[in-house]
Amino acid sequence: MPNVTFISPDGSSDTLDIANDTSLMRAAIANGLHAIVGDCGGSAACATCHVYVQEKFLNRLPPISDNEDQLLESTSSPRRGNSRLSCQILMSPELDGIRVEIAETQW
Ligand code: FES
Repeated sequence: MPNVTFISPDGSSDTLDIANDTSLMRAAIANGLHAIVGDCGGSAACATCHVYVQEKFLNRLPPISDNEDQLLESTSSPRRGNSRLSCQILMSPELDGIRVEIAETQW
């Protein structure tokens, strides 16, 4: 299975093997990474699953939808050029080894 490494705001890291088509948000919550909240359950309505994606993986992600783009304007932690909502990133073979930094705050 492909894996993802989450870097938590405290600097700790967790590498998880997750199934294809599983969102990074769901994987984080299922594995107790509480720095990701996922309040809306993954329907792109809350912006509490904000992550910063390692640059080399950015062009392998699906394009940002208008809805995600709007939500990223209202995140608790500052939006950066590599900001994404982790509920909108589904694992795929192309993303094997992806690293994401969890935003410091989600509320
Ligand atoms: S879980 Fe709500 S926007 Fe991602």
